[in-house]
Amino acid sequence: MLKEALEFLLTPTTPLARRYGFLYQSISLKHRYHRCKKIWMPHLKNCQDLFLENIQDLPQKNHVVILGSAHLHEIPMHLLVQNFKRVTLVDVIHPLKHHLLAKKNKNLELITKDLSGALADLEEIETYEELLTLAQQLHEKKLFHFKADLIVSGNLLSQLALLPIEQVEKALKRPLTLEEKDHICTQFGNNHLKNLLACEGHKLVYCDREITYRSPDKEVIYQGSYPIDFSGFTYLKNWMWELAPKGEASKEYSIEMKVEAYRKD
Ligand SMILES: C[S@@+](CC[C@H](N)C(=O)[O-])C[C@H]1O[C@@H](n2cnc3c(N)ncnc32)[C@H](O)[C@@H]1O
Repeated sequence: MLKEALEFLLTPTTPLARRYGFLYQSISLKHRYHRCKKIWMPHLKNCQDLFLENIQDLPQKNHVVILGSAHLHEIPMHLLVQNFKRVTLVDVIHPLKHHLLAKKNKNLELITKDLSGALADLEEIETYEELLTLAQQLHEKKLFHFKADLIVSGNLLSQLALLPIEQVEKALKRPLTLEEKDHICTQFGNNHLKNLLACEGHKLVYCDREITYRSPDKEVIYQGSYPIDFSGFTYLKNWMWELAPKGEASKEYSIEMKVEAYRKD
């Protein structure tokens, strides 16, 4: 408990990350990983195998950029530093351990950035239509640009719309409909891929955008996904990730995600 409190106090954050609870979410994600890592192992192995397979034919391996790096559960730091001379991690919040590592190692750079471009304007948003308009306007903007031998978008795409949706639901005092949520998720996802495509270097994307809820006897209770325009990328593979076994998120159901992987040379 003391350790978590210290971590909460000592982790550097931006006012935006604090305001929107990203620090709390980051520490929760770490704890969920420790509770679930055995069951997550096939997913983590898929992410690591995919990374290792896809770096084999890179013309050079000087610099790798990881978008949505979080705790690097999926592509651990040792694989990055074994294979690349320079590592750049990009996220709206970085864990304390990465800040400490970056202080000691000049080849590790942390960039703290809102990759959706939406967070600074969220306080102004009060309706679904305003959020959709903001997301559509962001499509015309350069939200990020990186140049590296490899740029990985690591299970970030599906996260970008979550907080904006949560904020508008608070303002509206009602949940968005599934159709409304899908529109927003599609727009944020497409904005991300447009900016990623414009980056200079090879790209690897993995993202979880299909969710399945199962009853304790494994019946599908709900399954949903939203369209994303992956044109320009080559589809590689998909796998199922048992994200939350029964009892983790709810006693009534377990949650699985379908993870898809794409690359662009
Ligand atoms: C599911 S985690 C990614 C897992 C990570 N790739 C790993 O290996 O452990 C999603 C990450 O996206 C970050 N994120 C969410 N919204 C973001 C935004 N608007 N800009 C930048 N990062 C964001 C979160 O802080 C979180 O660290």
